[in-house]
Amino acid sequence: APIKVTKICCIGAGYVGGPTCAVIALRCPHITVTIVDLNQDRVDAWNSEDFKLPIYEPGLEDVVRQARGRNLFFSTDVDKGIKEADLIFVSVNTPTKKTGVGAGFGADLHYVELATRRIAAVADSSKIVVEKSTVPCRTAESMRTILEANSKNHCRFDILSNPEFLAEGTAISDLFKPDRVLIGSLQTEEGLEACRALADVYANWVPQERILTVGLWSSELSKLAANAMLAQRISSINALSAICEATGANIDEVAHAVGCDSRVGPKFLKASVGFGGSCFQKDILNLVYLSESLHLPEVAAYWRQVVEMNEYQKRRFSKRVVDTLFNTITGKRIAVLGFAFKADTGDTRESASITLIRDFVAERANVHVYDPKVEEEQIWMDLTEAMPQLPAETIKKQVTLCSSALEACKDAEAVVIATEWKEFTLIDWETVYANMKKPAFVFDGRLLVDAKKLKEIGFKVTVIGRGN
Ligand code: NAD
Ligand code: UGA
Repeated sequence: APIKVTKICCIGAGYVGGPTCAVIALRCPHITVTIVDLNQDRVDAWNSEDFKLPIYEPGLEDVVRQARGRNLFFSTDVDKGIKEADLIFVSVNTPTKKTGVGAGFGADLHYVELATRRIAAVADSSKIVVEKSTVPCRTAESMRTILEANSKNHCRFDILSNPEFLAEGTAISDLFKPDRVLIGSLQTEEGLEACRALADVYANWVPQERILTVGLWSSELSKLAANAMLAQRISSINALSAICEATGANIDEVAHAVGCDSRVGPKFLKASVGFGGSCFQKDILNLVYLSESLHLPEVAAYWRQVVEMNEYQKRRFSKRVVDTLFNTITGKRIAVLGFAFKADTGDTRESASITLIRDFVAERANVHVYDPKVEEEQIWMDLTEAMPQLPAETIKKQVTLCSSALEACKDAEAVVIATEWKEFTLIDWETVYANMKKPAFVFDGRLLVDAKKLKEIGFKVTVIGRGN
């Protein structure tokens, strides 16, 4: 008989597992969805009475309010979640390996393997196991081998790949209206049947033509490819921003002109201080590692350059700040606006802001930081991790956390915009100017301010991708 999914378990209640499965629960009231995680604090936060959820994502709270307790549950009882489900998403973290073979490049599949072994150990009926985490090609194959080798009571395991394409800050709208849902499966009768069962879940709200079904390895590679090509657009525009700064061309005008070509398209061409986020760098390095393992050094070098350009962009920006401030920022107060890696998220993983602050601290500046969403504790954690050679007290002496943009800018010599938060477009620059040391500098790493207006107020303005 065709498989009908009625109980879903998601292993991993993070940025992907949480929102993705909350939306499945909302859109499929007939399916019971349980999201499990080993991290008690995280699960408690998902279950908190006042909806203080562990991640900030516009629209998420509303989804959780509607579905939680109805057919959406959060728990640390991983085994029970696995036992009861007929379909299991594996949505655990897959960071870049820190040590051993492939250190600094390859994905650390430790958490995926642990979750897979747990499924094999406790499952007492057949399951569809869905790889949701971003993984190197052929991971599904390894998962299948582990599951089959450890299966009890003749349980059957069908493995699917179903990578997630949501972007943070827009996760809920991305999930409600995805450009596509991608499902990879073995092209066997059982594989195709499992694929259809998962496609039926999405069909509750996603139009049929947007549900793409392909082979397992195409699915795994498509996820790495999509992130690599998105990041490559940013590195391309950022490489051009350096030319603009040297020539007097304007990167906004160039991006617009280029993006008007329907073959290129206008999106994702915003020059910036560099891309951040937990995935672009990790997934490209993963692709580099894969290319190298396949003895394709030219392919590896090509993709590696996307990451190198990003590092260059961050370095170039902090150097421009120092150069412009008469070649020294020692003892100077610098306001950094934004700590998240992009607007509308509290996530700071690989944020360009961390690199900038590290550089400013190395120049012995006094850095005053403000972000509307990131928790103070998180900022201290990121900064101590970024500067392992400095004692925490030294960092705390040089960095001050502020509770508003105005407070951060008070008595500063320079304001650096690192994240494109909407509230930074509403800053009262007249007041900021009145309270700053003179000459007052603004460095816009996000093409956010009206440079002409600021110059009229009296600021010296430096914008990414524009000459001074
Ligand atoms: P995350 O770190 O926010 O969440 C992962 C969760 O898994 C953690 O809460 C952790 O405690 C839990 N976990 C780890 N091992 C476990 C185990 N054995 N049993 C139970 N729980 C376990 O990570 P994330 O940002 O949600 O990313 C998850 C995956 O999705 C990664 O592979 C990532 O590349 C991919 N991805 C992320 C995004 C994004 O925007 N963050 C988008 C698309 C894909
Ligand atoms: C990215 C992809 O957009 C998602 O499709 C993918 O699912 C996800 O990675 C993932 O696999 O984790 P995310 O990192 O959340 O999503 O956010 P993006 O909107 O892609 O932004 C990434 C970084 O690029 C941010 O620092 C952002 O500020 C920067 N960016 C983005 C630019 O500098 N310029 C642009 O034009 C766009």
